[in-house]
Amino acid sequence: MSEQRTGVAVVGSANLDLVVEVPRPPRVGETLLGRAAGRFPGGKGLNQAVASARSGAPTRFCGVVGSDESGDLLQRTLTDAAVAGRVRRADAAPTGVAHVFALDGGDNSIVVAAGANAELTAADAAGDVAGAAVVLAQLEVPVPSVAAALRAGRASGALTVLNAAPATVQALDLLGDVDVLVVNETECEELGGVDALHAAGASAVVLTRGADGVELHVHGVPLVHVPAFPIVPVDTTGAGDAFCGALAATLAAGSRLEDALVTASAAGAIVAQHHGANTPALDPQALAALVATR
Ligand code: RIB
Repeated sequence: MSEQRTGVAVVGSANLDLVVEVPRPPRVGETLLGRAAGRFPGGKGLNQAVASARSGAPTRFCGVVGSDESGDLLQRTLTDAAVAGRVRRADAAPTGVAHVFALDGGDNSIVVAAGANAELTAADAAGDVAGAAVVLAQLEVPVPSVAAALRAGRASGALTVLNAAPATVQALDLLGDVDVLVVNETECEELGGVDALHAAGASAVVLTRGADGVELHVHGVPLVHVPAFPIVPVDTTGAGDAFCGALAATLAAGSRLEDALVTASAAGAIVAQHHGANTPALDPQALAALVATR
């Protein structure tokens, strides 16, 4: 009898987000006065794991934080969202920090100091994916560790989803083990465009385009466009992560990719209407209510 696979295994980063509101990014040599908007749990991996759990999927997270106060906060965030798996605590490296410039109009620019995230090993990453229906990873942790997670996911029969953020050309070498690739327009361009991604082995490319919605490019099949939900964004930090987490959760529940993209778009819209990369306002009821407006 074949093993029953359930839920989502997320492999990735966890950061403390230090958010400053600014009218625009600072220029080189310039000191810009901003307004401190707060310290929030973040990191693409943690955000996606929380979003997956808040979308209703049994979810576990594999990552590394420091043995410091920020690490405690991030562990509590995961526990509060019912994400399973204990993050490893690094001996010396501090918890990763993201400096988030929240720009007028809801956009952002982010600089990440990886800290403990850089210590996620291939053994950590591959050791926690067995039995998951979907394995979800991003690129804020060492690429060989992401490769190990995707390979182990594939070997165990899971569906593998890679959010190639931040984009690096090394991502192209991973695509043979990726079922669904998620990129925004900047990442897609940095990786050479949709055709190059198909040629490198990504059969399904999900291109997120903010207010212009989402495109699904499957090699040899007409493009599918999913319109965005109309919202007034407050802070788009983590909206893409909510999209990926909800996408993985919905796929783990057995949905078709086209349908999962609608739920994922709803999750991104909910998070973008709140400050910080995570919000308890994201739950299965809120998702269902927004999806029903379509
Ligand atoms: O995608 C948003 C996330 O990117 C932030 O939470 C920040 O930590 C960086 O990882």
